[in-house]
Amino acid sequence: MNTLFLGDNLDVLRRHVGDASVDLVYLDPPFQSGRDYSIAFEPRSGKPERERAKAFKDTWKWGPEAAAAYAHAEQGTGGSTVRALRAILGESDIMAYLCMMAPRLVELRRVLEPTGSLYLHCDPTASHYLKVLLDGIFGPACFRNEIIWRYRRWPARARRFQRMHDVLLFYTASAGHEHTFNTLLGYEKLSESTLKAFGTKRQRADFSSGHRKPGVDDVETQGPPLSDVWEVGVIAAIGRERTGYPTQKPEALLERVIRASSNEGDVVLDPFCGCGTSIAVAERLGRRWIGIDVSPVATGIVRDRMSGARFELRGDPPAGHEPAPRAGPASTRPRARALQRA
Ligand SMILES: C[S@@+](CC[C@H](N)C(=O)[O-])C[C@H]1O[C@@H](n2cnc3c(N)ncnc32)[C@H](O)[C@@H]1O
Repeated sequence: MNTLFLGDNLDVLRRHVGDASVDLVYLDPPFQSGRDYSIAFEPRSGKPERERAKAFKDTWKWGPEAAAAYAHAEQGTGGSTVRALRAILGESDIMAYLCMMAPRLVELRRVLEPTGSLYLHCDPTASHYLKVLLDGIFGPACFRNEIIWRYRRWPARARRFQRMHDVLLFYTASAGHEHTFNTLLGYEKLSESTLKAFGTKRQRADFSSGHRKPGVDDVETQGPPLSDVWEVGVIAAIGRERTGYPTQKPEALLERVIRASSNEGDVVLDPFCGCGTSIAVAERLGRRWIGIDVSPVATGIVRDRMSGARFELRGDPPAGHEPAPRAGPASTRPRARALQRA
């Protein structure tokens, strides 16, 4: 049964998700951006309601909680990597963040089928440390790709190059060839120069003349296999899929992940599901799914977004989390508007 859990994912994973029971994990955790994200709900027409709720925080500080998480993480799988990171980073905020992530990644590794895959969505703030952590937990041989999600947005004034990409770290549960992988065609075009020289015929390596030659077989390609740099637009301010949840990701991005690394009927797990982008795509593509989020605001939006689907909602708001603002009837349902830095 598809399930949406409201709760801390570490607790939910340990108590409710069995060993080797999931085919694909996609996670988009907070990135240690130092922000607190909140959300305001406003009617589609008329004045904004004065209802505002904290969606989630993205701030980690070294303190007793982080020290306890470290003590636990250094004993577990990947413990030597956690110790090495601590030797480099000391008792810093980024180390507190990694101590939060380590036990969750260990649990996600546990729940993956031997044919399963994990995609960790992050940004350059922490992607290099997260890759080291994943190498420690999965093993470097299970690393498959660092995918660059390149998007465009309004440039900001800065004395550096504009930051316009996120990173998806793709690992598999096993180091061999047993993982599910569907090569994606049709997402990219052949380059102008390739088309001019070779048309759409498949090329064969033929070095007899010292150059590549067009193939003799007449197989038309549907475009090249998708590369590890993905151009996908961010959700437009008035886009149809926009829920207003801060950090919402585009469905087109998740479609690539889910199509590539799962098949119909497979189980997709998103332990930081936010407003449920991965879940909505999994449902549309005929996959089963498990979503977890600690924020009642997030699960409230998922509940509305998935109102046509069959699923079970489990869990209670953890202490310190506000309940979601109540939605009105469908025609007057408030639309969430994202606010950052509450
Ligand atoms: C970057 S957002 C995910 C956005 C999502 N990909 C989407 O498209 O809406 C991160 C989410 O992680 C959730 N979160 C943070 N810590 C969590 C925890 N310990 N357990 C479960 N969810 C958590 C936050 O509430 C937030 O919704």
